[in-house]
Amino acid sequence: MLPQNIEKLLLYSYRIARGAANRLRFGSMERAKIGILISGRGSNMVALLEAIRDGSLNAEAALVISNIETAAGLVKARDFGVETLFINHKNRIREDHDRAMVSELKKRGVSLVCLAGYMRLISSYFVREFPQRILNIHPSILPAFAGLNAQQQALDYGVKITGCTVHLVDEELDHGAIILQRAVDVLESDTVESLSARILVEEHKLYPEAVARVLSENFRVEGRRTFAKQALS
Ligand code: GRF
Repeated sequence: MLPQNIEKLLLYSYRIARGAANRLRFGSMERAKIGILISGRGSNMVALLEAIRDGSLNAEAALVISNIETAAGLVKARDFGVETLFINHKNRIREDHDRAMVSELKKRGVSLVCLAGYMRLISSYFVREFPQRILNIHPSILPAFAGLNAQQQALDYGVKITGCTVHLVDEELDHGAIILQRAVDVLESDTVESLSARILVEEHKLYPEAVARVLSENFRVEGRRTFAKQALS
C-alpha cells in the first residue's frame, strides 16, 4: 500500500491530467449546472467542488443549499466562490420547504441535484421536478444498511465488506437506481469511526465519478439498471 500523501499526490495528478483531457474533449460545450444540498460538514460537497475546480468534472456548481444555518459546509462552499442559501425547514411542511428549494435551483438553471449529507427526506414533489436528476451518496453497499448509521449497522451485522453507493433518488429512502458502488473491507480492529473514515475516502472519489457518469452523453436508465458507455472516469 502506498503512503497516504503519495496516494493523494497521484490522485491529484491523475485528476489534473483527466481535467485537461476533458477540457480538450468538451471545448466550448456548455457545462451542466449542479445544485448541492447539505446539512452538515459537507466533505462530499467539497470533493465535488474540487473535481469541478481541477477540471475532472465538467460542470458548474450553481448553488449550495443547507437546511441548517450553522452547517460548516456553507462556509466551505463560499470559500470556493459558490453561492449558498440557508432555507429553513422548521415549522414548514416538507413540500413547502422543497418548493422553496426547487424554485431557487430552477432560477439558476440547475439540471442535476446532488444530495451530500442532506439529512432530510425529499418529497415526491421534488422528485417529480427533477426526474432521474437527483443523486445521493450513502455509506454502504445498498440495498444493505439503508437509513441512518449505515456504518454501525454494517459493524453490528458483522459483514466483512461494506462501502458506498451513489444512486438516483426516488420516493423511497436510499432506494433509487444505482450509479456506482465501491467496496471497503471491514477490519477486525474497526470502530465505527475508523470504518466511517475509510468509507469516506472512497466516497470522495466515487461521487465526482458518479456525477460525471450521469452527465455523460450516453447515460441512460432502464428500470433499476443504469448505463453510461462513455463515463468520464
Ligand atoms: C456521508 O457519509 C454520506 O455518505 C452520508 O452522509 C455523510 C455526509 O458527510 N449521506 P459529509 O457532510 O459529506 O462530510
